[in-house]
This record gives sequence, C-alpha cells and structure tokens, in this order.
Amino acid sequence: MEKVPYDLIIEIQHKVNIVDVIGEYLPLEQKGKNYFAICPFHDDHNPSMSISPEKQIYTCFVCGASGNVFNFVMNYEKINFVQAVYKVAQKVGINLNYKVDESPSKENKYNNYYKMFDIANKFYQNNIKSVYGKKAIQYLNGRNINNDIIKEFEIGLSLNDNSINKLLISKGFDVNELIDIGLCGKKDKYVYDVFRNRIMFPLYNLDGKVIGFSGRIYNDEDDSKYVNSKESVIFKKGSLLYNYHKALDYASKSHQIIVVEGFMDVIRLYTVGIKNVVATMGTAITKEHANLIKRLSKNVILCFDGDKAGEKASLSALEALEKVGINPKIIRLEDDLDPDEYIIKKGKDAFEAHLKSAMLPIMFKIDINKANANFNDFNGISDYLKSVSQELEKIEDKVVYELMVKKISKETGVDVETINNMVSNIPKKSLKIIDKRVINPKDKYVKAEEYLVYYMLKDPNAILLYQNNVSYLLNKKLSRIAMEILEFYEKYKYINVTDFVCFLEDKTDLINETLRIDDLDLPTKVDDEVIKDYIKTIDDGLVKQEIKKLKLKIKEETDIAKKVILLEKLTNLKKKECK
Ligand code: UTP
Ligand code: MN
Repeated sequence: MEKVPYDLIIEIQHKVNIVDVIGEYLPLEQKGKNYFAICPFHDDHNPSMSISPEKQIYTCFVCGASGNVFNFVMNYEKINFVQAVYKVAQKVGINLNYKVDESPSKENKYNNYYKMFDIANKFYQNNIKSVYGKKAIQYLNGRNINNDIIKEFEIGLSLNDNSINKLLISKGFDVNELIDIGLCGKKDKYVYDVFRNRIMFPLYNLDGKVIGFSGRIYNDEDDSKYVNSKESVIFKKGSLLYNYHKALDYASKSHQIIVVEGFMDVIRLYTVGIKNVVATMGTAITKEHANLIKRLSKNVILCFDGDKAGEKASLSALEALEKVGINPKIIRLEDDLDPDEYIIKKGKDAFEAHLKSAMLPIMFKIDINKANANFNDFNGISDYLKSVSQELEKIEDKVVYELMVKKISKETGVDVETINNMVSNIPKKSLKIIDKRVINPKDKYVKAEEYLVYYMLKDPNAILLYQNNVSYLLNKKLSRIAMEILEFYEKYKYINVTDFVCFLEDKTDLINETLRIDDLDLPTKVDDEVIKDYIKTIDDGLVKQEIKKLKLKIKEETDIAKKVILLEKLTNLKKKECK
C-alpha cells in the first residue's frame, strides 16, 4: 500500500463524516451538538468519548485518546495509518488504488489541459482588446466594469468562428483532448468551438490555474445567458469557488469571508474594494464548498440574491454550513436585487451597512416566517408562533432567547409567558465567555506557550508573529507542533484544526497535544497585542532558562579566561532580562 498524499487525505476527510464511521463501530448518543460513546481505548463504563461533527474529531476526556476519523479506525482496528486511510476511502467510494497510482504524475497528465486553457485565456483576452471586442467592452463598461477590472479578472471574448479549435490544433494539441475539456464539441465528424461570441470569464482552481470558462451573451442573440465549460477531470463545479485563490489572503486579514452567488457579484464587490469574497456560481453549496469556505474563515456572511430564489439558496447554504460547524450570518437585500445591482443602485455604504447588521440564522428564519405569516387573522398568528417556537428552541443563549421572545411578543401582542409555554426547551444560562483565569506566576511561561499555540491553530496572524519573533518553545512537544503549523501554513496558506490534524497523520502524541490545546477555554479571537504579550513572556522564559544554564557552566568552568567570557555573556543576558 502506497503512502497517500495530503490532498487526497483531505479529499476523503471532506467527504466522510466521523459520526457515521464511529457509529459503525460503537453505539452513539447525541447530546447537544456532539455525540458520546463508551471509550474503546480504556476500561470505560460511562460514555467519556465525545465526537464533534463540527471538528470531525473524537476525544476521550478520561484517557486522552483523540484524533480524526483515520486515527480512530487505525487505533480501533489496530492497523497502520495508511491502511486506515484506504479503509475510510472505501467507505466513501473513493478507489485509492487507482488514485494514488496516478497521483505523482497527475500534474504531468493534466499539464496539457492547463496549457490549453492558458492559451485560450490569452487568446480571448487579446480578442476583447481588438476591433472585434468593441461592443463587448462597451457592454462591460456600461455595467460599470472598467478596463482595469477587465484586466484583473482576465475577462475576454470568444469569436464567432472555430478559431480556438484551429489555434490549439496548430500548436500540436490533440483534438480529443480539446473535446475532453469542453473547449470544442463534435457533431458527426465536424469539430466546432463551444464558446462563440461570448464574453469569457476564466474560472480558476484553488491554486489560481484556469480550468474552465463561463461565457456570457452581450447582445441578446442567444437565450442562454451563460454557457459554462463542461465538467472535466480538472473542472468540478461542486469543489471550487470563484475567486478562492485571490480571496484567501483578504479573508485571513479581515477575519471574514463573504459568499455570493454570481461571479458578477464578486467582481462588483472587488471593484468597490471589498475583496474577501467568493461565489458559488449558482449551484447548491456542497459539503466540499462548505469545507473550502471554512478554510477561508469561520466568520461567514452569506449574501445571496434578494429574491425568493436567493432566499431558498440561503436556507440550503445555511444547512450545509451548519453541518461543518459554521454558523454564518445572513444578509437580505431589498427590492429583489443581487449584490451587484444593489451596489450600483444604492452604493457601497448602503451595502456595508448590510454587512455590519447581517442577521443570525435564527433571525433570518424568523424573518422569513414573518413575511409568510398572516397577522390579520388569529389563526395566522397562532401558525406563526408555532413555527417560530421551533426556531426558538434552538437558541442556546439565555439572553438572546429572552430578547427574541420579547420582540415576538411585541409583534404579535401575545404574552411572553404564553410564548414561553410553547417552547419546550428554554436556555438557562448565558454563553458569553467570561475570562476569569488568574495565572499563577510560576505557570506564566507554560501558559504563554500553550496560549500562543492555541491562537496559531486559529489565526494566521499568530503564525506570522511566531515565525518572526520566536525561535523555539521550551515545551518540546509544543515546539514541534509550532514547527508543523509553520510547515502546514507555508504550504497551504490557511489553518484550521481539522485539516491540520490530517496533516499530522499518525503522530499520535502531537495530535493529542494539539487537540488538548485546541480545547482550552479561551476566547476564539484576540488582538495582536495579546499575542505579542505571550511572545514577550515566552522570550523572558527563554532568557531565564539560558541564564540558568550559563550559571551552571560558569560554576563548572576552571579556566579563568573562559570564565571571564562566560561572565560577560551572563551580564549581557541579565541586561536583556531587565528590559
Ligand atoms: P445569476 O443569474 O444570478 O447571474 O446567476 P448574475 O451573477 O446576476 O449575472 P448577470 O449579472 O446577469 O450577468 C448566478 C450564477 O449562476 C451561474 C453563473 O455562474 C452565475 O454567476 N449561471 C447563471 C449559470 O451558470 N448559467 C446561467 O444561465 C445563469
Ligand atoms: Mn446580476
């Protein structure tokens, strides 16, 4: 069995649900968001293993066993990591024997495809700048898309002939490959260009390589607004988001990602300087989309079209995101507008006001119920309260619950008491985390290292601060984890604990420690200043440690000249310590 590359491991991880897999081995019991089981890794009598669908991780709070779906299968079946990966892959219908074989040469095999798309992309861009492109440019400018944006998004034009076919054949590409990737079609023996006289928007994979196109009409001659490349081995609509490669950086800097439906919406937001945005391109959000969004940020704002279809799409996106542990906020735009139209009609400020006041899912659902309710009729109010009470049951925070009930009572004229009686499960406490920990000075260094790693697992800023300011950590395990995080981040440019644990494969000691740190009861977000504070404490700890070592050395040194040099060193270190 061959070692499985990380991107394949992630592909499997994104398709499988740990709850289903562990559920095949052990009886599970759901409590709140998580599931519980009797831990099979120690002599357990009460269910002490919890399984988080959000993080796709299991942890036993008694024996400390923890990991992801692969680690579970590995430890339970007493097989090695690679065998476990194969086993889980089989469960989700991925044939790894075939995939791993082709994986090393995958790049090469697909290189021709990438090359063809690249040539086509350049060709289309040239066309739009030529005399043939005048009307297309006029159309785009008329939609407030200026020439800089045309260049930035590499927007082009396909001609009304078979020029792509001819161009690529003349460059020695195989006609069957052209058909495979959907640039050309074939009818009887006649090969023709699929995209004709359309404004061409290149679509990119996660690394920013062109892997398909979407072509838009601009002169109403055809009735299908957009024609998309057909799906191919390198183009799968369900596993890509428009603008992902560009948004990665902006999302991590702004700690937020905005998700829209159309790529025109992305382009509009980008034009007005809102660059942390991706589009689903009109398809329903898949589990893979949801996982990609989660990589960009856990702070998600859904901003779909303001019409009924957009509302429906928001509800289904909400469901998909909740399954991977994301609780997005939602925007409803007025007048049935999409984000592009909205910004053009009402301006950037009005749009930003929406961003600031984006709704919690519960508000959104209650809003929809309200819009459909008939308040002029007692039965209508009663129906409304019945559906709303189901939503109220899902609120976990007491304060949020009370505010909502008061609001609904005011709207309907029905007593708070009566509404409470309709809800079977009223939250008892406020969830707001109050940071009460007082740190014992002896623990200070230990804690600072743990807290720093905690934030490195969540926030690229913390990783960069570590990289630029810290050489190593005193705790050897944490130091190794920090190194692995650096390596992961350098390769993949994002961080989340679920994927990072996949990256650790079978390093069980590091996985257990990572998950212990991830589980610390700390606020999920803090200012850079707090992180800099931890780094300062860590620095002090390292200096103190060095002083201790040096003092020992001085004591043991018999050569006077050498002793003097060491003493000088000590004085310098002590100065550093005082700073
Ligand atoms: P929309 O119909 O909302 O398009 O579809 P749009 O973004 O507002 O585009 P303009 O403003 O009319 O130019 C949203 C997304 O659905 C996909 C496209 O990816 C589009 O970005 N779509 C839409 C298609 O693939 N085919 C279609 O015929 C329509
Ligand atoms: Mn539009």
